[in-house]
Amino acid sequence: MEVGPRDGLQNEKQVVTTATKLELIQRLAQAGLREIEATSFVSPKWVPQMADHAEILAGLAALPPLAHAVNYPVLAPNMKGYEAAVAAGAREVAVFAAASEAFSQKNINCSIAESIARFEPVFSAAQHDGVKVRGYLSCVIACPYEGPVAPQQVADVAARLFDLGSYEVSLGDTIGTGTPATVQRMLEAVAARIPVAQLAGHYHDTYGMGVANVHASYQFGLRSFDSSIAGLGGCPYAKGATGNVATEDVVYLLHGLGAETGIDLDALVDTGAWISEVLGRPSQSRVGRAMLAK
Ligand code: HMG
Ligand code: MG
Repeated sequence: MEVGPRDGLQNEKQVVTTATKLELIQRLAQAGLREIEATSFVSPKWVPQMADHAEILAGLAALPPLAHAVNYPVLAPNMKGYEAAVAAGAREVAVFAAASEAFSQKNINCSIAESIARFEPVFSAAQHDGVKVRGYLSCVIACPYEGPVAPQQVADVAARLFDLGSYEVSLGDTIGTGTPATVQRMLEAVAARIPVAQLAGHYHDTYGMGVANVHASYQFGLRSFDSSIAGLGGCPYAKGATGNVATEDVVYLLHGLGAETGIDLDALVDTGAWISEVLGRPSQSRVGRAMLAK
């Protein structure tokens, strides 16, 4: 799941034009990615960078068809977001909860229980409309406000998202403090409640553990991973904050493990270099930098 156009750009302070976002998504699709999270139907007061969500979906619908089908899921935190997303053409949405109360309040302005109650009508409507729903869970290792989060607490909220009808639950190490050992303990607790085939790893690379955590999760049996082209993400003004593990790095790892991804790594590296240049900063992908230096 490529999340660069959403998780990567949502905190970007400079204006990124709709045309640039569409070109980014198109290049990612041409590189062979089949799941690209395109935007968020959240409040533009909270996340101004995603305010062009309807234009993004309209632009994607107008793109010439590719040889492979591409899904463009979008975030929807409540019914208002869901209805706007579906009206704009979304066929797959993602709801997002947190495993810590403090993060839930800061991110979506409600408790964990209130967030689940807000998602219930979204799942019902989606089932009626034939729209797929992915469930995100933040702070699966630690919370920036509360510290370490117990694996059992993660498993409890993940199970609620799954039981509501998520086709997959994406486990987010939001602040990137996880290591293969803590990730494995968390996965053991979650896998007792949800089949491993319906889990995804969403690892931020703040402490440089992103690739290691993908590998640990792959060995655990996970086959779905979220990543961001060029490691986009994080706030340029927040000390130490970084984006998701870079897509180029994850693809290099997976190809090295003999996995077939259908992704053209050279095209991905070119795309990472291009968007980094547009944003005026070096790529955070080690693989991208190394391959371009050759
Ligand atoms: P709220 O202020 O509590 O909402 O925000 P409200 O229901 O009280 O409504 C207040 C106003 O917002 C009203 O407008 C609503 O219509 C409007 P007003 O009457 O004042 O003009 N509103 C909306 N507008 C557009 N779209 C909507 C929507 N809903 C209400 N969907 C809300 C609650 C959830 C909306 C807000 O807190 C919000 O938008 N939060 C988004 C936060 C966000 O996008 N965070 C980043 C994504 S999550 C993430 O990055 C983590 C992840 O990557 C995994 C990981 O790494 O951990 C997924
Ligand atoms: Mg994230």
